Amino acid sequence: MTGIPQNIKGLIFDLDGVLVDTAVFHFQAWKRLANTLGYDFTERENEQLKGVSRVQSLQLILKWAGIEKTEAEQEALAAKKNDWYLELVNQMKMGDTLPGAEEFLKESKAAGYKIALGSASKNARLILEKTGIIDYFDAIIDGNGVSASKPDPEVFLKGAEALGVEPADCLVFEDAQAGIDAARVGGMHVVGIGKAEDLHGTDFVIRDLRGLKVGQR
Ligand code: BG6
Ligand code: MG
Repeated sequence: MTGIPQNIKGLIFDLDGVLVDTAVFHFQAWKRLANTLGYDFTERENEQLKGVSRVQSLQLILKWAGIEKTEAEQEALAAKKNDWYLELVNQMKMGDTLPGAEEFLKESKAAGYKIALGSASKNARLILEKTGIIDYFDAIIDGNGVSASKPDPEVFLKGAEALGVEPADCLVFEDAQAGIDAARVGGMHVVGIGKAEDLHGTDFVIRDLRGLKVGQR
């Protein structure tokens, strides 16, 4: 089993698809919205929506569908998608985390790593609270606190700064190519969560957080 590289002091986690299984909820809600517009998209296309902000995801779908909407219409559509997404999120309970995620957070904290969230989601705090993992985080940087979306490194650089750790001593956990690119541009190490064929430019890829040993710092 792979371990955390020696120099690492700070761990920065993406949320959707890394700690919780909400990437599938985003996919379902966007698909439902696209279908109301007479459009559909595949799981492969959905890879491009991962890590990307709500409004940018909508704009990508509209572009694929060849549909133009005013800014006000886009806002209404994004709000509708979010309502449907939250219906799914609201069914989540304490402990609804991805395999190995909570154990990994617990062991990392006990081993003395600084822990941050680096997510594009504006719903991040709600999800961390509902699933009972919010107290593991020393810093939370989410979609409410950044102006540029991944692959811009802003969210991770702010995370590193909040932890007081140099970017080069941070390890980012990401399931999205946009997030992996953001971590790399920010000068950080990055672990891909998912399938190696989908994720490029990582230090290494693991299926889920059961695949990484914490060890001692
Ligand atoms: C990212 C997801 O974590 O957050 C994207 O990977 C999502 O799919 C983005 O669009 C924004 O999330 P939210 O919850 O603010 O709509
Ligand atoms: Mg993600």
